[in-house]
Amino acid sequence: MKRTARGQDLVVNGPRLLQSLERLGRIGWNGEEAGITRLAFSDEDRQARQFFLDELAASGYVCRIDAAGNIFGVRPGGEGENAPITMGSHLDTVHQAGPYDGAYGVLAGLEVLRTLDDLGIATRHPLAVANFVNEEGARFQPDMMGSMILSGALSLEEARTKRDDAGISVGEELDRDGYAGTDRVAPGKYLELHVEQGPILEAEDLQIGVVEGVQGIAWWQGFFLGQAAHAGCTPLVLRKDALLGAADLALAVRALAEELGDGSVATMGRCAPEPDVINVVPGGARFTLDFRSYDPERFERGKILVEELVRSVAFRNGLEYRLEQVTNALPVRFDPTLVALVEQGARERGCTYRRMRSGAGHDAQLLAPVCPAAMLFIPSVGGVSHTPKEYSAPEDLVRGANVLLACALALAEPL
Ligand code: GLV
Ligand code: MN
Ligand code: MN
Repeated sequence: MKRTARGQDLVVNGPRLLQSLERLGRIGWNGEEAGITRLAFSDEDRQARQFFLDELAASGYVCRIDAAGNIFGVRPGGEGENAPITMGSHLDTVHQAGPYDGAYGVLAGLEVLRTLDDLGIATRHPLAVANFVNEEGARFQPDMMGSMILSGALSLEEARTKRDDAGISVGEELDRDGYAGTDRVAPGKYLELHVEQGPILEAEDLQIGVVEGVQGIAWWQGFFLGQAAHAGCTPLVLRKDALLGAADLALAVRALAEELGDGSVATMGRCAPEPDVINVVPGGARFTLDFRSYDPERFERGKILVEELVRSVAFRNGLEYRLEQVTNALPVRFDPTLVALVEQGARERGCTYRRMRSGAGHDAQLLAPVCPAAMLFIPSVGGVSHTPKEYSAPEDLVRGANVLLACALALAEPL
């Protein structure tokens, strides 16, 4: 057990962390089957942000909100407030999510700050806990929008023009109810604790994932246009079936990902025929594509090949098409010194661990080009996330927060 200079145990308050996760998990909860839905900028997202702001205020941290709506709770250090060692993640969710994706990283960061208060530890550098806006991208693309704006990879003006399926813009939502502020916070270093969301740690019976990098993520919205026709009277050879084109494309992008190899993946997550009627050959089909690859060269080549596939699939099905790329998050490798620090933190805490890649996108991916960043994972039971079945064991949740505490304190330098 690691101890402070005064001989106190350097551990977070586990019950307090679990209780705050449980309280936050009630916001947007729609029962066992439907889980939690807190889409970015929705009323539920706003409630979660208010919960976070209330917790920050209750603990006396300095609250800062930037023009994108990113929230920072700052615990000043001996050197003031600038360039804080920042921990964080996101409070928004996909549709029907579990309780830990994002929420864990934010509330574990808050618990680290509170633990330092409890132990009376002041630090040379300031510390902060952050909630980044619209990490999930389930409603407005691109995903990781808040960290993308902070890092300069997306301008606020462009982000404000993005619209959801109902035609509501990010700008309209940002202007509603004081969501956005005017503060500017630039993290000095960034640490993100997250559930793995995949099966590796569980399968290998390990406690901590030391994340070395994140794969690139490309998303597209597309539309195939064929000809709606009578399902009984139109011979198969004369059809221009847009849904058939989308089905063809779903198979083709999967084969492409397999061919590219090295863990590359491709997914058609949305597909909607038009007019969506039982006895009508679909004349239109809306679809989305998600392509990911870890190796930068494969990522670039894969994106070109995906776009070529859409073109060739449209051609062989006699369809016209529209395609718009809406996300392009490049693969990153985290700062080697910070990665080594996370590894050392896991080792010192007596945890079993391995180095690994992240399959999911994270705010750390966008922050890595502008400040040293690193991540750590804890196991996800069953390897699932983005579903109400997402679960991590309480002892793993507390263990991960303890490793985060060790890393953050080493960076912030106790006085
Ligand atoms: C975000 O969770 C993503 O990886 O899609
Ligand atoms: Mn997440
Ligand atoms: Mn997610």
